[in-house]
Amino acid sequence: MNYIKMLQGVTIMAHLLPIQSDGGAEKTGHIRRLLDIEMLKTEANYKRIASRMAFNTRLLSGFLQTTLLLIRKRFRSASLRFKTAFFVVVLLTCTSFVLCIITVQVMNKYVLNEIIKRGESVGTSVAASAGYSLLSKDLLSLDNLVFKAKSSNSDMEYVAIVTPDKKTIAHSDMTMGDGILPVSQGKLMRKSQDGTTVKELPRSSDSIFEVSCPIVFMQKPMGSVILAINKSVLLAAQGEVRYKIFLVFGIILVLGTIASVLLASFLIKPIKELSVGVDELQRGITKSPLTIYSDDELGKLTSNFNIMSSTIAEQQGKLNKYARDLEESYVSIVRVVAAAIDAKDSYTHGHSARVSQLSLLIGKAIGLSTEELKDLEVACLFHDVGKIKTPDSILLKPGRLTQSEHEDMIHHVQYGVSILDKAPSLRRYIPAVRHHHERQDGRGYPAGLSGDNIPPLAAIIAIADTFDAMTSNRPYRKAFSEEEALRELVRVAGTQLRADLVAVFVGLIDERRAENALLSFARAI
Ligand SMILES: [Fe+2]
Repeated sequence: MNYIKMLQGVTIMAHLLPIQSDGGAEKTGHIRRLLDIEMLKTEANYKRIASRMAFNTRLLSGFLQTTLLLIRKRFRSASLRFKTAFFVVVLLTCTSFVLCIITVQVMNKYVLNEIIKRGESVGTSVAASAGYSLLSKDLLSLDNLVFKAKSSNSDMEYVAIVTPDKKTIAHSDMTMGDGILPVSQGKLMRKSQDGTTVKELPRSSDSIFEVSCPIVFMQKPMGSVILAINKSVLLAAQGEVRYKIFLVFGIILVLGTIASVLLASFLIKPIKELSVGVDELQRGITKSPLTIYSDDELGKLTSNFNIMSSTIAEQQGKLNKYARDLEESYVSIVRVVAAAIDAKDSYTHGHSARVSQLSLLIGKAIGLSTEELKDLEVACLFHDVGKIKTPDSILLKPGRLTQSEHEDMIHHVQYGVSILDKAPSLRRYIPAVRHHHERQDGRGYPAGLSGDNIPPLAAIIAIADTFDAMTSNRPYRKAFSEEEALRELVRVAGTQLRADLVAVFVGLIDERRAENALLSFARAI
């Protein structure tokens, strides 16, 4: 941006340049054009960079929002155990971190204070012994003092004894003896009442703590003891303490995390079992009462749930019994109605019961399950229940039906469906009842289904219904013999009736006839 402003300024200046001569004007114009081009390029670059930055910002913002959304979504669907453990671990981590930082800070100050105190102690001790030696100018004793102080504190860089005018009398570094110790300039860290000062002196690569203890003998200042401790000693000590603190807090954090996971599992277990119990209750599964782990609120909740579950199970059992009774009553009524319909016509008396028996023969032969056989039996009883609405004038007409009467007659399947549809538990028989007059070639009624589209139970009923109708007397014809009826079934197999089921049925009837013939022969002899 500054560059653009600068260019703008230069461009304005170029435009304001006075035209001194033709050659000068030409050069000035050239410069103006170059500056204009440069301005345009710079502005275009700036816009491109700004546009890219805006795009990147939007991209980053979108990424962060999506990430937060995903985390929130995952967190919402996470288990209660995970959430509890997560919160405890976060709380523990934050608390540990803050405590760790505070402890490190306190320990850093403590270590610094200890190092300085040791320096002051050594300095004071040397100063106390150096007074007399200074007065008596016993340089050997002073050298000995400095040497002992340095050798017993190896982390000290040097120990020196100086006069009030900073002339070195004794120095642990022999090369520094008999010199003028430079006046130290640094940050004053501490000044005691006895005149002891501690300064931090920066150097090119590191820094030192310089402790200066005054030497006073007979209330007369004799000089000072100067000793230096490298800051690296402090840093090393602080580093070691810091490492131990972090190690301890790390162990606390790990143990705390494990403990929080175990605690969450322990606390959540009853809630989880309660949740599973509610879920099973919702799905109608009743199990033994849930375990009560405690006498607290959760224990009372579990106890109440057990009572509620037991009550619901008891009421559900009663309701199921009522439903079964109701269904049985309804079935009984329909049975009565079906029998009454059959009884209306002496020619069809017992028709539904016979169709039921014949259908069950086929059903067993083709391997239907017990449940399917039960459904087949009831569907057979219901198959013509719709005839209750068919007028007797049509139902009992001795002659052939007119077109209109035939149309009324075929409506009995729809009437049957209407009757069954009123009871939810009977609706499963509707397909068999509705389609028992369908044909394999699709010319049946009411839907004109063909082939495998016809429900299997309806196809079985159609064979039994046709066979019983043919082997029963009618006002307008005599009953067919079983042999004739079977021949007719074979003839219409594949067009009216299902060929494979007809083959099974014919086989069964032939078998039964053979058995009957054998029995008759046995009785005769
Ligand atoms: Fe029918």
